[in-house]
Amino acid sequence: MKVAIGCDHGGLDLKDIVKSVLKELGHEIDDQGCNSSESVDYPNFAKAVSLLVKDGKCERGILICGTGIGMSMAANRIPGIRAALCHEMFSARMSREHNDANVLCLGARVIGQGLAAETVRTWMTTDFAGGRHQRRIEMFK
Ligand code: RB5
Repeated sequence: MKVAIGCDHGGLDLKDIVKSVLKELGHEIDDQGCNSSESVDYPNFAKAVSLLVKDGKCERGILICGTGIGMSMAANRIPGIRAALCHEMFSARMSREHNDANVLCLGARVIGQGLAAETVRTWMTTDFAGGRHQRRIEMFK
């Protein structure tokens, strides 16, 4: 599937790890930056990635900043975006099964690279369960 990815300066190193995981799983990546350690404003990257997902140009998005908090707040302002901040596999799985999360947010200053890679693997390979959960996410509108 096509996955949009974005980060700020705090998430730059982890973005490369996440991209390797996505490539290993056979996904196509649309990297919206940033691409240097210069300080940047995370809402710009949250918006760029979220709009690609909202407009159907990418099926999923992944956003990485220092904590993941700012990215998740900014992404969830975009209608149709269900961004989940997950730092372990249980939340990553449930965010897909129950919430049909279409954007994953990670905090590079919170999580180690190995756990982040496994969290991404879980999130990318878990399907939405539908049923009663479909009704509930429709209630977000
Ligand atoms: C940048 O210093 C930091 O505020 C940002 O990466 C993120 O953690 C915000 O939520």
